[in-house]
Amino acid sequence: MPRPVPADGEVLVEVKAAGINPGEAMIRRGALHDRWPATFPSGQGSDLAGVIAEIGPGVRGFNVGDEVIGFSERRSSQAEYVAVPADQVTAKPAGVPWEVAGSLFVAGTTAYAAVRAVQLRPGDTVAVAGAAGGVGTVAVQLAVRAGATVLGIAGPVNDDWLTAHGVIPVNYGDGLADRLRAAAPSGRVDAFLDFFGGGYVQLAVEELGVEPGRVDTIIDFPAIERFGVLGAGNADASDIAVVAELAGLVADGALEVPIARVFGLDDVRAAYTELEKRHTRGKLVLRP
Ligand SMILES: NC(=O)c1ccc[n+]([C@@H]2O[C@H](COP(=O)([O-])OP(=O)(O)OC[C@H]3O[C@@H](n4cnc5c(N)ncnc54)[C@H](OP(=O)(O)O)[C@@H]3O)[C@@H](O)[C@H]2O)c1
Repeated sequence: MPRPVPADGEVLVEVKAAGINPGEAMIRRGALHDRWPATFPSGQGSDLAGVIAEIGPGVRGFNVGDEVIGFSERRSSQAEYVAVPADQVTAKPAGVPWEVAGSLFVAGTTAYAAVRAVQLRPGDTVAVAGAAGGVGTVAVQLAVRAGATVLGIAGPVNDDWLTAHGVIPVNYGDGLADRLRAAAPSGRVDAFLDFFGGGYVQLAVEELGVEPGRVDTIIDFPAIERFGVLGAGNADASDIAVVAELAGLVADGALEVPIARVFGLDDVRAAYTELEKRHTRGKLVLRP
């Protein structure tokens, strides 16, 4: 690809890190064609962090050499250089590692939107399916910060990480609804975040009796209509101010984004093969 030229209002970023997300693989396979049509050949990727290499006409407030976190809405971040509107980048706090900075947008804003949607109050118990993934690791920490008791649904391999972050681990498998109720201090689950799909919404509404208005799924789209639950995700918090807020929490040591593995840009296929196993803790990241 030729090096992009920043248009009016854009900056050119030399990418240092770009996280990968399961939705990108689904779009590539055509599985989300109705929502996000794909045409090929196509670039890929929304998450990015890097160094400003050029400033387009009309841009104020940034300089060449600034370290930034941002996002692309043109499936173009998995590259050495990407041009994006200047209002889609924010200063990277010095204490935030490149891998984390480059992973914050999709997973972070999705977690933020989902947690906000179920309106957690101190004393609530919220169960989170997919608690140890890219979205889940951020969401469980935001839910703990909101004062909720958080039940993190994941495999046993994640028990220690979840416990260390103030979350009660509950392993998926037979008898899950009973085990969730038993783990909840009040014996009741008040809200449910589904980051995995495959029947968790039904379990939340029909087995646990959670009010549909306090169930959010980011992946089981048919269940949104069937059960009247919420579908708040990335698009609902796709704002650079949210990215900046999350980056600030990371810089302050109040939010951890675990990086499972880092791949070179040339190893993009291996990175997605790993991601599609659906057992990543935190994020997989490409480093050009
Ligand atoms: N709508 C939106 O805006 C939006 C945005 C981002 C992502 N998404 C979607 O949300 C989902 C999660 O994304 P992500 O990036 O967090 O994925 P991810 O990082 O690949 O999630 C992996 C996690 O899923 C857990 N998991 C595996 N099997 C499970 C099961 N049976 N029950 C519960 N958890 C299980 C794994 O835990 P163990 O290793 O312990 O098994 C692992 O920690 C994806 O389907 C993605 O496409 C939607």
